[in-house]
Amino acid sequence: MNIDEARVLLKENGQSHVLNFHDQLDASRQQSLLRQIAELDFSSIRRMWAMLKSTSGEDENFPQSQPTPPDVMQLTDEQREAASAAGDKVLSKAEVGVLLVAGGQGSRLGYDGPKGAFSVGPISGASLFYFHARKVLSLSRRYGVHIPLYIMTSELNDAATRSHFEQHAFFGLDPQDVIFFTQNMWPALDPAGRIMMDRPDHIFMSPDGHGGTLSALHRRGCLDDMERRGISTIFYLQVDNPLVEIADPAFVGVHAEQQADFSVKLCTKRAAREGMGVVVERDGHYEMVEYSEFDKPENHCLTALNQSGELIFKFGSVAIHIFSYEFLKQEALRDMPLHIAHKKIPVCNAHGETLIPTEPNGFKFEKFIFDVLPDAGKVVNLAFERADEFSPVKNADGDDSPATCRRDLQLKWLRWLQAQGVTAELNFEGLPLLPIEIDPAYALNADDLKERGFLLRDFSAPPVYDASVK
Ligand code: UD1
Repeated sequence: MNIDEARVLLKENGQSHVLNFHDQLDASRQQSLLRQIAELDFSSIRRMWAMLKSTSGEDENFPQSQPTPPDVMQLTDEQREAASAAGDKVLSKAEVGVLLVAGGQGSRLGYDGPKGAFSVGPISGASLFYFHARKVLSLSRRYGVHIPLYIMTSELNDAATRSHFEQHAFFGLDPQDVIFFTQNMWPALDPAGRIMMDRPDHIFMSPDGHGGTLSALHRRGCLDDMERRGISTIFYLQVDNPLVEIADPAFVGVHAEQQADFSVKLCTKRAAREGMGVVVERDGHYEMVEYSEFDKPENHCLTALNQSGELIFKFGSVAIHIFSYEFLKQEALRDMPLHIAHKKIPVCNAHGETLIPTEPNGFKFEKFIFDVLPDAGKVVNLAFERADEFSPVKNADGDDSPATCRRDLQLKWLRWLQAQGVTAELNFEGLPLLPIEIDPAYALNADDLKERGFLLRDFSAPPVYDASVK
């Protein structure tokens, strides 16, 4: 794109200020600004502005009617066994792929790298990525198949994510089976709908939300890759939770038996306002209501209690999903709803200096992947035991922090050991006195551990990570 084309395009869209500093920039900075302008998606920017302008400030797809709680499956031991057998078949046929979304910024945690590189291993200090990748490795070995791991990054963390995997020899995975792809970046708008610049030659951009996964899978050739590999079933997880039972055969089996398009794992919420999305039934279909939207009038019932003092909508989503390949492909190019957030955005003043605001000064927009739920013909909601599968790292301290995550990882492994007669003393925080860590590539669950055996060791120094552990 040349400068004249850029001028016309920006003028048509009421964004001419983006070139305010253009004439004062050197040639290479002019070029980089023009490249950014060429990549702007003006049809989405017009939708953002329309949303911002609307007096209600509501999302575009404003639901009207009251929701009701969804049907939720809870498996008996017998049903779980049957479902696992069905899941084993899908896994053995090499039809399962794993999709890990890791493009977010982890700002609440205050960590300056890709969140997946954050250390959670209680002894080894291994990263969140380590736990996810070693589980995929373990499953690949168990079923004797290649399980591709698709990792969505963003421009902000793509290089650092790739280098984390390279530095750790892909945690033992075949690099051919680890596919990184970047999501789209969107500009932010000021209250007047103007694209925000953070430097004279630079438009402030941030990731377009994990709803951007769908179009990114298409644009970056991952859907084609899935088709080539014969993937029918895509297991989706977020980077922040190292307890996820990746491609849990029972979950895969229920999804397959029900011929579902979209399956969701749910667990009971700790409190009405816990930061979890809630699946509801409304107007004859399922949808997910994000916790940030509980205060809308039509969602008030989501935090209400029944006469016995229990939450009426007691289940929350932990962002563990399964999609059918056909459904992902069908949804890939769909215009998804936008969600708006008022944020502090670095901004360039009239003198070309970057100011960091102390109060929210602009609006970011995101898409959420679960907004495709209403399009799904068949949905499965499956409840599971929270302690076994959900303890994310979201905050620096308190609930859902590194400390609670390390504790819950160890308590999970302790339950595996206790199943074999090991006893352990806990300290006042509920942690085993001797730290516990089990490499997922050694044992994925209590049965694996029983089969492979174990040696209790008191580590006086953390062991060095060894990618070759078989
Ligand atoms: C999320 C869910 C919430 C769920 C909870 C369970 C959303 C909007 N909400 O909340 O419904 O109950 O987890 O833990 O997801 N990400 C990207 N690109 C982006 C934005 C995010 O890849 O542009 C990834 C992050 O890296 C992370 C995940 O999406 O893996 C979740 O993002 P986050 O914004 O942290 O969501 P939560 O508020 O934790």
